[in-house]
Amino acid sequence: MKKRTIHCNAIRIDHIDQVVTLNGWVHSRRDLGGVLFIDLRDREGRTQTVFDPSDVSSELFDQAASLHSESVVSVTGKVRRRPEGTDNTKIPTGEVEIMVQSMEVLNAADVLPFPVDDPETASKVNEELRLKYRYLDLRRPEMMRHLRLRSKVATATRVFMEEEGFLEVETPTLFKSTPEGAREFLVPSRLHPSQAYALPQSPQQFKQILMVSGVEKYFQLARCYRDEDLRADRQPEFTQVDIEMSFIDREDIYALIEGLMGRVWEAALGQTIPKSFRRITFDQAMNTYGIDKPDTRFGLEIHDFSEAFKESSFKVFSGTIQKGGVIKALNAKGLADVTQGQMEGLTQLAISQGAKGLAFIKVEGGEWKSPIVKFFSEQEKQTLQSTLEIEDGDLILFAADSWLPACEVLGRIRLRCAELLQQRGRLTIDPLRFDFLWVTDFPLLSFDKEMNRWYSSHHPFTAPVEEDVDLLASDPRSVRGQHYDLVVNGVELGGGSIRIHQPSVQRTIFEQVLQIPEDVIQARFGYMLDAFRYGCPPHGGIALGFDRLIAILCQTPSIRDVIAFPKTAKGTCLMTESPGSVDARQLRDLHIQWRQQPKSEG
Ligand code: AMO
Ligand code: AMP
Repeated sequence: MKKRTIHCNAIRIDHIDQVVTLNGWVHSRRDLGGVLFIDLRDREGRTQTVFDPSDVSSELFDQAASLHSESVVSVTGKVRRRPEGTDNTKIPTGEVEIMVQSMEVLNAADVLPFPVDDPETASKVNEELRLKYRYLDLRRPEMMRHLRLRSKVATATRVFMEEEGFLEVETPTLFKSTPEGAREFLVPSRLHPSQAYALPQSPQQFKQILMVSGVEKYFQLARCYRDEDLRADRQPEFTQVDIEMSFIDREDIYALIEGLMGRVWEAALGQTIPKSFRRITFDQAMNTYGIDKPDTRFGLEIHDFSEAFKESSFKVFSGTIQKGGVIKALNAKGLADVTQGQMEGLTQLAISQGAKGLAFIKVEGGEWKSPIVKFFSEQEKQTLQSTLEIEDGDLILFAADSWLPACEVLGRIRLRCAELLQQRGRLTIDPLRFDFLWVTDFPLLSFDKEMNRWYSSHHPFTAPVEEDVDLLASDPRSVRGQHYDLVVNGVELGGGSIRIHQPSVQRTIFEQVLQIPEDVIQARFGYMLDAFRYGCPPHGGIALGFDRLIAILCQTPSIRDVIAFPKTAKGTCLMTESPGSVDARQLRDLHIQWRQQPKSEG
């Protein structure tokens, strides 16, 4: 094979009359009056090559003419200026072309299942086909751009962390069950019958142990595994920028991550972001946006009207308040022309979130149109009017429920209304706007009604806010955790906490609050509680979802677009067809028998 002397994106007017060799793929081909033009593409870009029957043998010409797109060739020829009027201003090499002298076909491609030279491929070809032929899909310039950006951000992250004094330490992938919430992938042990490793949901316990070891500043681009229901922003295996530090408080983590994000945005987009990020508490986030990862790029804020409707003759409202609930409302500004179908959709969305209904007022032609307005007093209308700044064309939506569900329902409704307003061109969001936000003061514990017990909102290693520790026994609900989430444009990019470093406090959480039986504590966390007895520094950390970070930077809604070989929503890889069957001997070695016999193949 003749090796390339230059990349397909590098040839310019300066190279005219030089003989060059290019290696790459046949991107596109045109036959113009007996002269053949082949655009040759490599990772860097493309160059036009010309096969003129008066220059090349008829054998070579015929060979070139019969090549399918995406065949791999090595082409040698002389660079020349393109004839006047034939420049292609869309590509950097558009002023020149290569007069081919010789060509070697390195691999003749079959006809492709879908074209890769069409910028619209992603929207025209269904994703399953693209995933089955992922190697072709990755050839598309857009996907190549994602891979490059991912690599660049990984490097920028490593350089930044190194400068800040962090050590990158790898931790095991074969681990054991941890209590972080998600279902785990298990790896049965051959050497230990009836025992299994679990793939780590995150390196949480190892990074804390590394603090006990005295590493002080740890980070890792860590692979994590969670067997959970998949969505656009969730994969069963994903990557975290995982961080842990000793002798610090929350402020140190905020400052570190603000610096890291600054470096990343600079490297990836050449953009300067604010030096420090806005902070809001969990309560504020729920009250104002109805979600713990608010998108603050638009208003549509939620307001509380519990005081105003306490004595209302609309019994749905006053009754809810008497039972300890709240009345929340938002003004979907300019959405009074919502269609019947869309209003039905909003109501169904509210009901699917557990609401009993979705009361509304449409403000049109100076009139408040709603089945419930007749129950409202002048005073109640006044309060709504002034708080929500109601104008003609507005749509007011209400939730009456206990505090958290009422907030959450309107949180979902708010996001849907923003979509409807965007579709109508009444709300535009600059794609290069990034609203960074710290969400703080989460409740340490949440209550599971079904199981009738408390569980950790983040994970059981999160330290309570110091002044709340005494409430652990008397009023667990109001104990705040030293937990923080990093949110960008409504996406939870990361989360972490200051940890418990006293074995006695950790024990209290396990035993008294989470009510984990003693033998389970020993089996799962014995080594950690032991470690904490031998000199454990105060410590804390955070993990950022690396795939989500890259998806935000690439402005794509799905993390599948920024992972080279992602899984489908059903957890399968369509290219390699995994998961796959295993043979009987492998199972025997692992001391395993399927309860259900697999369907026979073929
Ligand atoms: P947490 O579970 O919040 O914290 O995860 C941290 C971040 O990882 C990303 N993430 C995911 N990305 C893609 N697919 C998934 N299935 C997925 N699950 C989570 C999110 C999330 O914010 N050990 C703690 C961190 C700590 O306390 O330091 C942890 O894993 O962006
Ligand atoms: P009803 O009196 O039950 O017919 O309800 C009147 C209106 O209030 C309807 O539009 C319902 O969708 C709405 N509604 C009922 N319950 C609630 C609730 N808990 N929160 C918000 N709206 C409600």
